[in-house]
Amino acid sequence: MDKLRITGGKPLHGKIIIGGAKNAALPLMCAALLTREKVTLDNVPYLADITTMAKLLVQHGAFLSLRDTSAGTPFTPDMPGHYSRELSLTCESIPNIVAPYELVSTMRASILVLGPILAREHKVRVSLPGGCAIGARPVDLHLKAMQALGAKITLEDGYVLAEAPQGGLIGGDVYFEKVSVGATENILMAATLARGTTTIHNAAREPEITDLAELLISMGADISGLGTSTLTVRGVTALSGTTYRVIPDRIETGSFLCAVALAGGDVELLDARPATLGVVIDYLREIGVDIDTTDDTIRVRRDLSKPLKPKNITTEPFPDFPTDMQAQLMTVLTQAEGDSVISETIFENRFMHVPELGRMGANIAITGNTATVHGATPFKAAPVMATDLRASMSLIIAALAADGISTISRIYHLDRGYERLEEKLAACGAMITRVR
Ligand code: UD1
Repeated sequence: MDKLRITGGKPLHGKIIIGGAKNAALPLMCAALLTREKVTLDNVPYLADITTMAKLLVQHGAFLSLRDTSAGTPFTPDMPGHYSRELSLTCESIPNIVAPYELVSTMRASILVLGPILAREHKVRVSLPGGCAIGARPVDLHLKAMQALGAKITLEDGYVLAEAPQGGLIGGDVYFEKVSVGATENILMAATLARGTTTIHNAAREPEITDLAELLISMGADISGLGTSTLTVRGVTALSGTTYRVIPDRIETGSFLCAVALAGGDVELLDARPATLGVVIDYLREIGVDIDTTDDTIRVRRDLSKPLKPKNITTEPFPDFPTDMQAQLMTVLTQAEGDSVISETIFENRFMHVPELGRMGANIAITGNTATVHGATPFKAAPVMATDLRASMSLIIAALAADGISTISRIYHLDRGYERLEEKLAACGAMITRVR
């Protein structure tokens, strides 16, 4: 199993190109199931989760081809870290409507094939994903939304069998009692081919939802209310192929902002989309990090001689503070002068990085879903273990600022969501190597 070895204490200087968003690319790939024609996605990151989704779609009957489009782009010659890829998906038919346990259990986002296959084939069988490290993560909201469009749901042998009424799904009102990114994406895709109008109330407003809606519109879907919590979808009889560019990854962007906030230095993030970061940039500025933005770049500077201020944070759906940035910002706040209280409201078990950060010198007390960070306690290098995707990144950030050499094991979690992270950081002067 690969490990990362990091010698801390080196400020970061240089440029990093942000990759395409994993959490946008996954639903966009599933949207290709809605049409017989070719859907081409540009700026697709090369990550373990994307490969898993590709395998799932291929076994449903999709044809995939991947082309490296990096060569010739203005970024590549002198700036490491740009790995643009164009992925084409063609689903002329869907001979297999079953999403098997072997694939669904390795990646929860597999549930996103439910809506498109149900809408197109009027029947789908998807394995229940089960819980994961950060929480129980049920799929009840996905299923209730499909029922609101007339689907009959049966649970059998660990699988969900969903069947549309004769003639296909029927548009209707979907009320989400809780904001869910995945359930909003699933029903949005399903509603595009339903008969009549669907109104999705209390829809998630994450930038990845808007990205999906824009892809679907470019395929011929009729959707209004983009970026709001009420989405209206007027069903059409068929969707067509399209070419579409995946948005930059806001969580990768935020993670690099936190890395510079803690290691110090001056880094420019290119091909970013600051508008999708919500309050993350505001909070970092408030605690003492210098950030300047344009429409597609972010310059982040941190002078280590100036202390950071503490900040209380609560994770909430977009546009508030994202749970996917909680571990990284908590790590930054360990170096603030004073106490910060962090409340995690989205997932019930998302403080697994805390004991590992403790091994590196952090002083963090957990009570229920609240962590109180007592700062500042300088980081000391240690061998630590990654427990989930974003927790992995928090340990890397800590190691970049720690005195000495840290090793981070179980980085297969990291490889699910950060493409060639060590190369991007090393290009900015970080002493980081992958040990195979
Ligand atoms: C997506 C993101 C993930 C992010 C999360 C919250 C992808 C691939 N993953 O996950 O990185 O952390 O949004 O921003 O985009 N819930 C239910 N019933 C359901 C569905 C969800 O109770 O049917 C609960 C979940 O357990 C969780 C909350 O709702 O407590 C939000 O989950 P959701 O927004 O659905 O997260 P995902 O789409 O799985």
